[in-house]
Amino acid sequence: MRSPTTTLPSQVQFWDSWHGRRGATGQDPVHLELRQRFLDLMSAVRHPRVADLGCGQGHDAVAFAAEQFRVTAIDFSPVSVRQVSRLAAVRNLSVNPVCHDLAQPLPLGSATLDGVYAHLSLHYFDDPTTRLLFAEIWRVLTAGGVLVFSVKSTEDPYFKTGEEVGPNMYCRNGHLRHFFDYDYIEDLLTDWKAKDIQSRNGYYASHEPSAFFHVVARKPY
Ligand SMILES: C[S@@+](CC[C@H](N)C(=O)[O-])C[C@H]1O[C@@H](n2cnc3c(N)ncnc32)[C@H](O)[C@@H]1O
Repeated sequence: MRSPTTTLPSQVQFWDSWHGRRGATGQDPVHLELRQRFLDLMSAVRHPRVADLGCGQGHDAVAFAAEQFRVTAIDFSPVSVRQVSRLAAVRNLSVNPVCHDLAQPLPLGSATLDGVYAHLSLHYFDDPTTRLLFAEIWRVLTAGGVLVFSVKSTEDPYFKTGEEVGPNMYCRNGHLRHFFDYDYIEDLLTDWKAKDIQSRNGYYASHEPSAFFHVVARKPY
């Protein structure tokens, strides 16, 4: 385990570089499955107000805007936020891109969203920060609002590779990840309803196999 006096590599720089180099296509089958899940769940609401947390290059945010969702797309990588803006402009769609660190309180009002979506962006924080982030998601959702997210699981081949920096947290090649197991997700979602936690195997932005959880939950009415 890392000594508390040493510092981790900057994750903003890591992601700026990643998005600048290649990023994601937004077309991996497990990714498309989660996006469709959110689209289906939101179909009951007219012009739903949603946030895409850790939106990356905006493939999901733009797909939601194309369905007339009112989308706030949040990421802490300035490179990715510029890419979302460009993608939305090219497609003549309206997205509100916000550069923001998810480790800080969300820049959104309480009970202002019908849905929160986060594809592979909630597994970068230590346990206290993760719990604060889930509390923030709860705060910004309306009663009955839907949360759809995916995270890397402890079944992932990269689990326990690189330097251990905390419980189930590893830093590999400058990339920090917190791997979730089923019980941890259950615990994070204690007060949520209609929970559905499913494991998935697939690919994200590479040909390396990965293991994920796809999760749906609803804030109670
Ligand atoms: C695996 S990528 C997923 C991107 C996008 N959701 C997608 O599926 O293509 C993780 C994203 O989370 C963002 N991210 C990581 N840590 C973050 C933080 N602390 N605050 C905001 N965004 C963060 C990264 O910049 C990156 O865009």
